[in-house]
Amino acid sequence: MSIWARHKIFETNSVVLIVGILLVIAIGGLVEITPLFYLKSTIEKVDGIRPYTPLELAGRNVYIREGCYLCHSQMIRPLRDEIERYGHYSLAAESMYDHPFQWGSKRTGPDLARVGGKYSDEWHTAHLKNPRSIVPQSVMPSYAFLADAKVDAASLGAHLKTNRELGVPYTDEDVAKAAADAKAQVNADSPEAEDLQKRYPKAVVRNFDGQDGDPTELDALISYLQMLGTLVDFKLYDEKANLR
Ligand code: HEC
Repeated sequence: MSIWARHKIFETNSVVLIVGILLVIAIGGLVEITPLFYLKSTIEKVDGIRPYTPLELAGRNVYIREGCYLCHSQMIRPLRDEIERYGHYSLAAESMYDHPFQWGSKRTGPDLARVGGKYSDEWHTAHLKNPRSIVPQSVMPSYAFLADAKVDAASLGAHLKTNRELGVPYTDEDVAKAAADAKAQVNADSPEAEDLQKRYPKAVVRNFDGQDGDPTELDALISYLQMLGTLVDFKLYDEKANLR
């Protein structure tokens, strides 16, 4: 029987054709899905990625609560125009501790995945309090009230614990010191600040909103914005891979 005659069996008999299609899809599916059960992780390890500090996590919670993700993405696609505007494309590892991730799907404002270090704290404070004071045409809402709301430091340990349940490697020490860490991050002179930076490398310790006292939600949000995209030293990777 020629190959054409054999193929005719499928083409002239819909039941045989359906069984054939199911068989082919099943094999294709197995080939794609089975390896995932044996891989420990599909995310490549990247140097520099660490869990959020308690204050950054509090800022991230404000970011989620206020719906910043509705206007801002945090995912730079590997396309030339995006890389030239925002910087190195996002790596999977950069959002490995995000629960939930903040990739977003809409850009009314610019992508924020690498906004850390782009502006000063004063810029963020002025911009968040009144975006129009910096960009007259901006449609971004004002978030001035964040400067008057204190971070609920006592609840941060529980936030860390919840993240740990989801796989973020916070230690018992991190959980126990969560409230103190949040306060230390806005007070560079405090003895706890050094300890914080030891456990959270590259953590920015500053009085973000310029107000003295315990951290406000504005402090928390700016501490989060200022660390976005700053953990990975892309110079090391790009020189090795000659990507850019
Ligand atoms: C209604 C849509 C909208 C919402 C909601 C929104 N933004 Fe924006 N955002 C914009 C627009 C538009 C711009 C560009 C103009 C400007 O700088 O104000 C912007 C700019 C920014 C910038 C400057 C980015 C850059 O690279 O220049 C930051 C940082 C920022 N927003 C943070 C936030 C945060 C944090 C929140 C939530 C508390 C938020 N935005 C909520 C629309 C929005």
